[in-house]
Amino acid sequence: MCGIVGYVGEKQALTVVVEGLRRLEYRGYDSAGVAVVCGDRLETRKKAGKLANLEVLLGSDPLPASTTGIGHTRWATHGAPNDVNAHPHVSEDGRIAVIHNGIIENFAELRAELAADGVLLTSETDTEVVAHLLAAQSPLVGGDLAEAMRQVCRRLEGAFTLVAIDSEQPNLVVGARRNSPLVVGRGEGENFLASDVSAFIAYTREAIELGQDQVVALTPESIVVTTFDGEPAEISEFTVTWDASAAEKGGYDTFMLKEIAEQPRAVADTLRGRIGREGLLQLDEMRLGDVELREIDKIIIIACGTAYHAGLIAKYAIEHWTRIPCEVELASEFRYRDPILDRQTLVVAISQSVETMDTLMAMRHAREQGSRVLAICNTQGSTIPRESDAVLYTHAGPEVAVASTKAFLTQVVACYLVALYLAQVRGNKFGDEIVAILRQLSDMPQKIDLMLDTVEPVRELARAFVHARSVLFIGRHVGYPVALEGALKLKELAYMHAEGFAAGELKHGPIALLEEGLPVIVVVPSPRGRSVIHEKIVSNIQEVRARGALTIVIAEEGDESVTPYADHIIRVPECPTLMQPLLATVPLQVFACEMATAKGHDVDQPRNLAKSVTVE
Ligand code: AGP
Repeated sequence: MCGIVGYVGEKQALTVVVEGLRRLEYRGYDSAGVAVVCGDRLETRKKAGKLANLEVLLGSDPLPASTTGIGHTRWATHGAPNDVNAHPHVSEDGRIAVIHNGIIENFAELRAELAADGVLLTSETDTEVVAHLLAAQSPLVGGDLAEAMRQVCRRLEGAFTLVAIDSEQPNLVVGARRNSPLVVGRGEGENFLASDVSAFIAYTREAIELGQDQVVALTPESIVVTTFDGEPAEISEFTVTWDASAAEKGGYDTFMLKEIAEQPRAVADTLRGRIGREGLLQLDEMRLGDVELREIDKIIIIACGTAYHAGLIAKYAIEHWTRIPCEVELASEFRYRDPILDRQTLVVAISQSVETMDTLMAMRHAREQGSRVLAICNTQGSTIPRESDAVLYTHAGPEVAVASTKAFLTQVVACYLVALYLAQVRGNKFGDEIVAILRQLSDMPQKIDLMLDTVEPVRELARAFVHARSVLFIGRHVGYPVALEGALKLKELAYMHAEGFAAGELKHGPIALLEEGLPVIVVVPSPRGRSVIHEKIVSNIQEVRARGALTIVIAEEGDESVTPYADHIIRVPECPTLMQPLLATVPLQVFACEMATAKGHDVDQPRNLAKSVTVE
């Protein structure tokens, strides 16, 4: 939540910073602001609402030329999303400007202290206290902004990324991080700071991951990283594997449409290089040894939102293939219920952004109890992978739209790889069985492609139901989490009531919601092998229809058993039951995206949301 950019070099800072904010706007869009150093003074511009509002302001009230600047796009926590609370916040003497991501938990106490010292606080934010504290600290440390930042950070509690500039040190940008993300971009005669690499990827792919409780001081020629205590810190450098074009819309109207279309490639990339010559899995990056993997007697998956739904699907495969009991838990609930954990528990943390605070805190709790943590991540350069015992990257490429699409499919695939690897190492499956399942997985990119070719009728359906008050989704087995995911997509994009249910639960209450014309989307598994779940769900469709609801049935090609009871049918290519979520989710993504478009909503940046949820 909140996007942060800092630049120091030879270019016009404002151009770099605004371009960076455009790429980071998915992180929050309640307000945007910039500050630059010009001569011996600071200038700021800030505006409530999206970045476009700030750009209008910059057009009518331009900033002077400057080669040092910072910028912020906000997801409001403390204080309403208005102009005054927008970042940057500036010290009373106008010398120091600060931007912030996170929550400073002891801000009330610090605010009272500043007020008692006669400081006039003008905003309702927790951030503003930092600007005043830096201004107070600076003269005590000879005007050294980095040292002032270290000293101030030692007084702060909570999660924060802070970036500051000082008009008395015009070629310097100072950043600090605890729990919230901050990445350095190393350029030639210029350096960058940002919440994620997409902000500076157009200029450099060389990045440095900042560790916990570190301060970085950037000049055009130098990058100095220290701990909050001023000790030199070890840095971890990496090269970003994708380029600026991956973070562009590439001809699509929205990032979400592009990311939906990228799913075949994304799934192929998750599998790439992980299947060896003999058709078995080789997960070279798995830092857990075979002995440790054989010791595991319980798996707990922790995640939020869409990633949680991926975990729910994975549970079916994990238990089926490995016979290891698996629980799936919302990360935000996990550590507050005193879960039973030990060294034999493998905790799998799933996070696209690797910044989700709920997931980070849950995995820290698991590690404190001695459990091993395996992270399934997409983005490089943050705390979740660094604090895990093992990491499996999904390689989905940057996901910019707030609503998760390709991240979901690739998380399911990555979880399946973990399950199969466990089955392989522990001998739960014969080699030929593993090879056969991996072949099924390898067929999926092509099938997702086929699925995408046939979604036009889904768009028409979405437009037809644009005035529906509510949409229900039902499924059984892995179709149940697919139903949950379909409902989540519709809620976050179309802002309408949508709920997913296990189809068998309908009769235990939710069936009372059914009424004439209510659209109910039913995810039907493969009929092959006379599946019991298939038979049961066909009965559920009839129950729904008998009560006047309108049935939209997602069923396999050639499954005619559903035809008499379906008002509309969406076909998915034939595939094994456990693979079906990779297909059945696609029309639900398209449905939600199209409905949001028809309602005139911003598909990439739905209201109230942010892509990375970096506060609990
Ligand atoms: C879904 O469309 C949302 N963007 C959201 O539920 C998301 O999946 C959740 O916040 C978890 O994010 P993460 O994967 O980055 O941890």
